[in-house]
Amino acid sequence: MKAFVVEKWCEPEEMVFTEMEDPNPGDDEILIDTKAIGINFPDLLLIQGKYQTRPKRPFVPGAEVAGVVAKIGKNIKKFKIGDRVSAITWLGGYADKAISTEKHTYLMPDSMSFEEGAGFHVIYQSSYFGVVERAKLQAGETLLVHAGAGGIGTSSIQIGKALGARVIATAGSDEKLEIAKKCGADIVLNYNDATWSKKIRKEYGGVDVVIDPVGGDVLQKSLLCTNFEGRIVVVGFTSGKIAEVASNMLLLNNISLVGLFWNLYAQNHLDRIEKAVDTLHGWFVEGKIRPVLFKTYDLSEAVTALRDVTSRKSYGKAILKIS
Ligand SMILES: NC(=O)c1ccc[n+]([C@@H]2O[C@H](COP(=O)([O-])OP(=O)(O)OC[C@H]3O[C@@H](n4cnc5c(N)ncnc54)[C@H](OP(=O)(O)O)[C@@H]3O)[C@@H](O)[C@H]2O)c1
Repeated sequence: MKAFVVEKWCEPEEMVFTEMEDPNPGDDEILIDTKAIGINFPDLLLIQGKYQTRPKRPFVPGAEVAGVVAKIGKNIKKFKIGDRVSAITWLGGYADKAISTEKHTYLMPDSMSFEEGAGFHVIYQSSYFGVVERAKLQAGETLLVHAGAGGIGTSSIQIGKALGARVIATAGSDEKLEIAKKCGADIVLNYNDATWSKKIRKEYGGVDVVIDPVGGDVLQKSLLCTNFEGRIVVVGFTSGKIAEVASNMLLLNNISLVGLFWNLYAQNHLDRIEKAVDTLHGWFVEGKIRPVLFKTYDLSEAVTALRDVTSRKSYGKAILKIS
């Protein structure tokens, strides 16, 4: 198989693109002929050795793929050779063959393309747990989604609309605000304009739920436009800053500040993941949600794709395709 290999902690440009032996699935594993691969921001940190977990080297990065089942281990019950599947592989995705486990592999709806399947699970599962499970967004409430053109942003906007909420989205450029609007946001605001929070409070009546993958100043200002009994979900820190929150701000309006770490659900709460994926696939089939694809790149262009994602150039999902 062809794959990108991390031999030492390095910059993506120093990965080795090489021919390797095909992996053989163990008894509990599935071998997938990958057709498309999703790029995620943490891939960069893993390659650099800066992620919270540091895999044993050499390794192939890449957390999610879609493709066709090529081989199955003897304990695999739910899948057969030839099935169209998407999978969270955690590692091993930047290759034309990848190994997954049954618990993190999903049959794709017929109408879902491989590119959509490869860009689905990390962002939609995370956003589902943020919006539905952590924030308990209700129909008729107002949801504020920051970085509304990013992977988490686009999926959270769509989930908010699927649940019947009014959605306000922020982003850093006109092009990205347009993407957020196309995803269904009712109101869009550039968060580089320092008055965005005041505007939301005064002109749009504040918000009930905030999904924040940005952190820093964006989180602090969100407190100023969150209504009585509002819920703010901490999803990430793309700004590079972890906000310090004055706890009196939470008390004054009965606001809940809650964290989200989707990996813990994916590793330890598979029954809840299964329910989330059923709902998400149902919404996809009904046309309520659909991954926004920035661009598809050839597998050999993985470094360019990853750099586009981490330099703020991309929107939605960047996808590698096996030609
Ligand atoms: N907690 C969890 O369980 C969980 C799950 C999945 C992902 N995450 C995290 O959530 C964050 C977002 O993921 P994603 O997939 O949405 O990423 P993404 O597609 O790369 O989008 C990130 C967005 O952040 C905004 N941003 C603001 N300041 C930035 C800066 N200084 N540098 C780069 N981008 C900046 C950019 O939008 P503008 O250009 O419009 O500002 C960009 O579109 C990441 O940190 C990821 O690791 C957390």
